[in-house]
Amino acid sequence: MTASRLAIQRLDYTPPDFLIDMVDLTFELEESNTRVASRLVMKRNPQAADPAAALVLHGEALLLESVKLDGRALASHEYELSDDRLTLPGVGDSVIVEIVTRVNPLANTSLMGLYVSNGNFFTQCEAEGFRKITYYLDRPDVMAKFTTTLIADKARYPVLLSNGNRVGEGHLDRNRHWVKWVDPFRKPSYLFALVAGKLVSLVDKHQTPSGRTVNLEIYVEPGNVDKCHHAMASIKKAMTWDEQRFGLEYDLDTYMIVAVSDFNMGAMENKGLNIFNTKYVLAKPETATDADFDGIESVVAHEYFHNWTGNRVTCRDWFQLSLKEGLTVYRDQEFSSDVGSRAVQRIQNVRSLREYQFAEDAGPQAHPVRPDSYLEINNFYTWTVYEKGSEVVRMYATLLGREGFRKGMDLYFRRHDGQAVTCDDFRAAMADANQVDLAQFALWYSQAGTPQLTVEGAYDAADRTYTLTVRQRCPATPGQPVKRPFHIPLALGLLDQRGQPLPLTLRGEREAGPTSRVLEVRDAVSRFVFTDLAERPIPSLLRDFSAPVKLDYPYTDDELVFLMAHDEDDFARWEAANTYALRLLREGYAAAGRGEPVVVPERYLEAIGKLLANERLDPALVALMLELPSEQYLFEALDEVDPALLAQVRITVLETLARELRGPLLATYQRLNDGEPYRFDAEAVARRSLKNVCLAILAEREGPMVSELLVNQYRRADNMTDRLAALRCLAQREHPEEYLEDFAQTWQDDALVMDKWFTIQAVSRRPGARTRVEQLMAHPAFSIRNPNKVRALIGAFCQQNLQHFHALDGYGYAFAADRIVELDRINPQIAARLAACFNRWTKLEPQRRALMKQELERIAAVPGLSADTYEIVSKALQQ
Ligand code: TRP
Ligand code: ZN
Repeated sequence: MTASRLAIQRLDYTPPDFLIDMVDLTFELEESNTRVASRLVMKRNPQAADPAAALVLHGEALLLESVKLDGRALASHEYELSDDRLTLPGVGDSVIVEIVTRVNPLANTSLMGLYVSNGNFFTQCEAEGFRKITYYLDRPDVMAKFTTTLIADKARYPVLLSNGNRVGEGHLDRNRHWVKWVDPFRKPSYLFALVAGKLVSLVDKHQTPSGRTVNLEIYVEPGNVDKCHHAMASIKKAMTWDEQRFGLEYDLDTYMIVAVSDFNMGAMENKGLNIFNTKYVLAKPETATDADFDGIESVVAHEYFHNWTGNRVTCRDWFQLSLKEGLTVYRDQEFSSDVGSRAVQRIQNVRSLREYQFAEDAGPQAHPVRPDSYLEINNFYTWTVYEKGSEVVRMYATLLGREGFRKGMDLYFRRHDGQAVTCDDFRAAMADANQVDLAQFALWYSQAGTPQLTVEGAYDAADRTYTLTVRQRCPATPGQPVKRPFHIPLALGLLDQRGQPLPLTLRGEREAGPTSRVLEVRDAVSRFVFTDLAERPIPSLLRDFSAPVKLDYPYTDDELVFLMAHDEDDFARWEAANTYALRLLREGYAAAGRGEPVVVPERYLEAIGKLLANERLDPALVALMLELPSEQYLFEALDEVDPALLAQVRITVLETLARELRGPLLATYQRLNDGEPYRFDAEAVARRSLKNVCLAILAEREGPMVSELLVNQYRRADNMTDRLAALRCLAQREHPEEYLEDFAQTWQDDALVMDKWFTIQAVSRRPGARTRVEQLMAHPAFSIRNPNKVRALIGAFCQQNLQHFHALDGYGYAFAADRIVELDRINPQIAARLAACFNRWTKLEPQRRALMKQELERIAAVPGLSADTYEIVSKALQQ
């Protein structure tokens, strides 16, 4: 709307005019007035377009005290100062710039730059937070060696941390002390970090294969050390895994993790000093669920893996964000697969990809994995950049094989260690190391939208051949009306009528092929002819979800049940169950819309009953096959959606399962509810997951027997997984107050547990949930300034409570809009994230669509809206 809303364009990239060799920072830390002195050793970039350009430094919300050039103080007419820039004209080929700024960390509620949380200092610099600390070339292709000296009150800030190695410390006047850090590795400013405060640590050691010893240190607030053991074990596992799988070792003497409760995202990979949301560090069985333990393991691994994929090799510009994020998510997913169950990991990842990334790709914020423009880079830490980016990396591995992928990675590091590079550089390393042509594959980076594959199979009995015809198309997305065909790896198998895998031999091949293989689909229409088949096979398609696409094949219900029982690919077996469940939910929704009853086919009930009865199956996989597609996923599959009806239909199906399969569900619950003391290992986690899925389905029916099960599990559980599973069900039934109060009493001092308590109430279908949410905003454990709390209460209500958020009187939408406007002044990043709850307004039925649009317009009209929120809201309105 205003002139400052100018989009940054990928194709406008130019190399920096200046480079920074060394940075020397000195912080005198005081809560509301921190002095930052910076000494920059700079030179002109020989690659700069304009050899006479002025030196332009980024800076935001800074108080400039002084500037010196080569030791000479500048008078104010010798530089230009604007809202976001400091311009120094007439600078020579090499120069030393000294700048003193003042900042107010206590007043910094954006949690970007330097801020105070619970009395301690933290920084968050990715993507463009360093410019809120001092004037600098705050762009990732400017890599410098950092020296950092921290000065602070000894008693209040006994721990002073920054990147690299501690090289000195000492005492100062006025009860202050100092610590000096040197980071020997060049890095962009977004990887800078400091932490200061009253923290305690858990320490350990790791031996690398080359014989170096790495000190491992996890810093938390006093009283939390007993919750750091899982994170510590995860670091060690991740280090060992990266050494073995990719030959990558850690490169500093110390690896530090610090936990902070006020944090915009999950965690941050600052060189040698990762800063984590407490949610991804603190856990013990009494306070954290199995899902929390898994989340910690994967986020710890993710940040550690960034040391190579992100830090040693970084991004040239922010359009290349997926270069580090897609690759690092792929690496953390592979890690989790190797240390846990590969099939379970894959199914969970695909489920969230479909629920969130597919929705993003189909809506107003759709963008390519490598975006072309943005207003605010913070809005591009998306499902597409992370999760679809990871799928794109996975496709290289699928096409090139594990060894070919490793060769590509090795070449990538050999070529680019210490550099800031692009997604094209990564693709070139993969192509060159394997001598293959990946030109068409580049479209995965440039074209947005989820490709749709339509597959047909034709059996020719006379010829004994089976022909698969694969058609691909990709829907239009904002700014991209027409798409070209993608290069798609399509993994598949063929089963005979008894469920045996058949050899896959393509016409022209002399020897019988393997029973599972990857076809390369490159054209709008591709045909594959399989030979030597005695009968019509049943295809098992997109095994292991070999590409981030939607696939349509006209399976009969019987074929789906057949695949559920026989497919040798675990993912495909789950997929068959998922497809069948989605089908019956869609049919139920259509029936309910016509005022007819929702019917669950006997065939489906029978298949689920068989799964439950088969004690040889992995309970984790049975649990995943039992879980119905989520409301979010179902929403995307429908048009002109009535969310309340959708939620109701899903409940009706669950009630039917609870009624028709009561015996088997109960028997499975009791078999798995063995009273064994809590252990966190794959087998125990799997058993708990199936047990609690059975419980949740049974709890969809009222009645004293189920109530007793729930109450018993709630009271007797020795761990949070079981206790929370029971409470979640109790909270949806009559009179949950007693249990909710009991829970709050017990856990009022544990912020992360209280987040769970907020969420359980925010997603409640019970009447009165919305009033309850308003009351909870005034609860002493709630704070609108804390992103975890906002996500737990407000985010959960707006994103997961379909009935109440979409209330026909418009209450939910107005509530969300009010919160977005309120948050926009406090923390624009968090406001913009919340605003995503309005993205899919055009998919709603007309009445709600109009209500939502009205609220979007109300937000857009707020004067002084941040670029973050403005970008999301204006794009939502443009569709
Ligand atoms: N790079 C972080 C990651 O590993 C993402 C991140 C953490 C972030 N905090 C942030 C991004 C704040 C933007 C703003 O995924
Ligand atoms: Zn990351």
